[in-house]
Amino acid sequence: MPSPLNRTFSVAPMLDWTDRHYRYFARLMSKEALLYTEMVTTGAILHGKGDYLAYNQEEHPLALQLGGSDPKDLATCAKLAEARGYDEVNINVGCPSDRVQNGRFGACLMAEPKLVAECVDAMRQQVSVPVTVKTRIGIDEQDSYGFLTDFVETVSAAGCDTFIIHARKAWLQGLSPKENREIPPLDYERVYQLKRDYPQLSISINGGVTSIEQAKTHLAQLDGVMVGREAYQNPYILASVDTELCGKPAVVSSREEVIGKLLPYIGKHLADGGRLNHISRHIIGLYQGLPGSRAWRRHLSENAHKPGAGIEVIENAIKAMELTTN
Ligand SMILES: Cc1cc2nc3c(=O)[nH]c(=O)nc-3n(C[C@H](O)[C@H](O)[C@H](O)COP(=O)(O)O)c2cc1C
Repeated sequence: MPSPLNRTFSVAPMLDWTDRHYRYFARLMSKEALLYTEMVTTGAILHGKGDYLAYNQEEHPLALQLGGSDPKDLATCAKLAEARGYDEVNINVGCPSDRVQNGRFGACLMAEPKLVAECVDAMRQQVSVPVTVKTRIGIDEQDSYGFLTDFVETVSAAGCDTFIIHARKAWLQGLSPKENREIPPLDYERVYQLKRDYPQLSISINGGVTSIEQAKTHLAQLDGVMVGREAYQNPYILASVDTELCGKPAVVSSREEVIGKLLPYIGKHLADGGRLNHISRHIIGLYQGLPGSRAWRRHLSENAHKPGAGIEVIENAIKAMELTTN
């Protein structure tokens, strides 16, 4: 049986974006969404100086995304992650950046399904939380359906029952990671086909989803929808996830309520010596699409990075927004 975590809606791992402050903020709007960390490399965890596994308990359910391709290192990191309470460990087989390719991980691992299977196997021997894989539908010229199914069959034979598929291939040469999120065309049908052919696997789709309605369309065919940029740039979409996709009560009823719940967290962060901007940069999209959102955005961008900036910057951003709408 696929894992018991609710995968209906998940927020994608996004480097520099889905840090623990963003995730705390996201959790204020949805209890049900499964949240992913930014990719953390095994090298950072095993040899880095910082605590790369730190998070707030409120963030659960929370998956750690790992970047790496050494089965032993991945297994050690998975074990550390489980001990710290992560609900899932995910391997990045989708990132096309040069840096990641040099480390022989990310999307280039699609060409090495046996190695990915070894990684999954080594990790599963160490942990009982789900070990999952986020990948693409292909890489470079290797973009046939057979290439994808070979990969999925080999990796699932090692015990991975959950795949998150970014429904476009990656070009490993010549395109930046940003271009690789826009230029290769999306092929949702291919992911639907995968689910039809491997109904025993949990298959989530990722790529280009910007509304709850679109999520519903995918969920009619698949186990889950993973949303990246929209969940960051228009985060209030999360407030509809529990009610509209999961049949659960709403967690919040307004954006102001979200801010009200975030303020104590910001206050504690400031009291601990943190900067306002570390958190405020993640809430800039909260009023996306509403009148006054420009004033909100501008006030935060111009003031939150200043030394000594405090909660009053948020309060004044609300006032600036109200002035433009009244
Ligand atoms: C700023 C940024 C950072 C990203 N970092 C990661 C990452 O660390 N790991 C990963 O698997 N994908 C990463 N991605 C890709 C997203 O997880 C996702 O697959 C992609 O954005 C497509 O989904 P979307 O169209 O809903 O944004 C990143 C995307 C963005 C925009």
